[in-house]
Amino acid sequence: MTREERFQLEVADVFKSYERDRRPFAVLDGVSIRVREGEFVTLLGPSGSGKSTLFRIVGGIELPDLGRVSIGGREATGTPGLISYMPQQASLFPWMTVTDNIASALEIAGVRREEARRTAREWLERIGLAAVAREYPGVLSGGMQQRISFLRALLMPRDLMCLDEPFAALDALTRTEMQGWLLRMWEAERRSVLFVTHSIEEALTLSDRIYVLSKAPARVLREIEVPFGRPRRSDVWTEPAFTELKREILDLLGKGDAHAV
Ligand SMILES: Nc1ncnc2c1ncn2[C@@H]1O[C@H](COP(=O)(O)OP(=O)(O)OP(=O)(O)O)[C@@H](O)[C@H]1O
Ligand SMILES: [Mg+2]
Repeated sequence: MTREERFQLEVADVFKSYERDRRPFAVLDGVSIRVREGEFVTLLGPSGSGKSTLFRIVGGIELPDLGRVSIGGREATGTPGLISYMPQQASLFPWMTVTDNIASALEIAGVRREEARRTAREWLERIGLAAVAREYPGVLSGGMQQRISFLRALLMPRDLMCLDEPFAALDALTRTEMQGWLLRMWEAERRSVLFVTHSIEEALTLSDRIYVLSKAPARVLREIEVPFGRPRRSDVWTEPAFTELKREILDLLGKGDAHAV
C-alpha cells in the first residue's frame, strides 16, 4: 500500500436523523469522506447542513444511525478521545495561565510537568506570544486566544485534528492573518486536518481537498482537488484557477446568481 492510499480518517456512508416535532429530521444522508495522512481537508456547506454533527460523530461523542468511522485504519465509531479538536470559540481553561493551558495538552501525552512547561514556553516564543506566557486567557484578544487554542490542539498527541470554524468569530483582518499563520504552522507540522468553514476563500487558501455539502439532509455534492502547490503562497487568490473554483462552488451552493450581480 502506498502512502497515498493510507487514510487517517474514513467516514463511510453515515446517516443521522434527529427528532423535530416528534418526527425524524434527517441531517446526514449517506456522507462519505476521507482524509489522507498529512492532508488538509475542508467541509464546506450551508448553515445547518450537519457539519458540526459530522464532527461530533467523528469525535465519537455521538453515534450515527448508520455508517462507520475509522481513524488510523481502526474502527472508531462511537469512540471518543482519538482526535484533537478545536471548536469555533477558543476553549481555554480560564483558571490556568497561558503556559499551563498549553502544557496541559502535553501532560495528557505523559510529558512531565516541568518539561511540558518548558516546551510550552518555547512554542509561545515561536508564535510571538512569549510576553503573555504568565497571563490568564481572559485578558487576551480573540486572535491570541485562537492562536493558543490552535497550539493546544496541535500539541495534543493525536494524528487527526478537527477544526470547526476556528476563525468565524474573528474580524476580517485578524482572520486573514490567522489563515496565513495556520498555513505556515501546518505546513511545518503536516498533521491530518479536517476543517469546517463557511468561507470559500478560506477553504481554497488552506486545503488540499474540499468536500462541498448540500443543505440538510447533507450529501456530498462534489469533491474538489485544490490545485495550488505547497508550501502555498498566501496570495493564491490572485490565480485564475482560484476564481474559477470559487465560481464553481458558488454555483454548487446555489449562490452563483447572487455573485454575478
Ligand atoms: N442534538 C440535536 N438535537 C436535535 N437537532 C439537532 C441536534 N444537533 C443538531 N441538530 C440539528 O441538526 C442540523 C444540523 O446542525 P449542525 O450544527 O450539525 O449544522 P452545521 O452544518 O454545523 O451548521 P453551522 O454551519 O450553522 O454551524 C440543524 O438543523 C440542527 O438544529
Ligand atoms: Mg456548525
